[in-house]
Amino acid sequence: MELSLTTPEAIATQAAILPDLLSAYRKHIRLYRGRTMRDDNDSSINLEDAYALETPEDNRILYRNWASTYDADFALRNKYVYPKTIATICAGLVDTTSSLTILDVGCGTGIVGTCLSELITESVIDGVDISAEMLHVASTKLRINNKPVYGQLFEADLTKPISFNKAKYDVAISAGTFTHGHLGPDALINVLSALRPGGRMVVGINKEHFSANGFGSALQKATDNQLVSAPVFTEVQIYDEGSPHYGDLAIITTFYVIPGC
Ligand SMILES: C[S@@+](CC[C@H](N)C(=O)[O-])C[C@H]1O[C@@H](n2cnc3c(N)ncnc32)[C@H](O)[C@@H]1O
Repeated sequence: MELSLTTPEAIATQAAILPDLLSAYRKHIRLYRGRTMRDDNDSSINLEDAYALETPEDNRILYRNWASTYDADFALRNKYVYPKTIATICAGLVDTTSSLTILDVGCGTGIVGTCLSELITESVIDGVDISAEMLHVASTKLRINNKPVYGQLFEADLTKPISFNKAKYDVAISAGTFTHGHLGPDALINVLSALRPGGRMVVGINKEHFSANGFGSALQKATDNQLVSAPVFTEVQIYDEGSPHYGDLAIITTFYVIPGC
């Protein structure tokens, strides 16, 4: 783009768009980096790289490289409290003594499932994710009784219709997956087909992503069509105090699938 700096007005106008240009340029560089990285175990991957993704294939590549360092370099270092918070909210909504079947949507390395297994001890927890490498880490996670956290783990792209265990789960839960560069409202509606009639969704959606990408209208449409109950929203911190990302918020959205749809 050619800048014309002939008049004070032209300078002021073009200076005003420079931050947007710079941010688009940075996003482009991050996306390029994500698409071309080849090393396993790249500990320099960060949240900005994840937010810059655009396609399911971008996600597959980034998380293939992030899987082995995600827990220590991302979750622990950034005080990522979202999985524990959503698991606690979920446990407050169900009978924690019954043997519920739960699907962890975008389970990644299994942090949400691990927290859930401590709170709803008799639950059968399955996980689904696009990344085989993240799923591999999840498969190593153990419950307090030393049994695996997860029952079945499915590798699937959730932007496509679900082909496994349709209408099976009592609960679907998700943290960190409905966010910038990852999944949008269409995938949320898609995932509903995994729930049995009356099954409950407990999904965390990044607050900025929620407003920018039409989650409100998608949920309103699903409610108007009597597919789901009116959603209840709870705003939570994604990272704990002391994290560089403290202040980033998510909206935990809970509703159930109306029987008979
Ligand atoms: C930020 S991680 C969150 C993982 C885990 N829930 C947590 O809280 O630690 C986002 C996850 O979404 C998965 N993901 C991204 N796009 C996906 C897609 N199209 N289908 C299924 N999973 C996807 C990624 O592979 C990654 O494991």
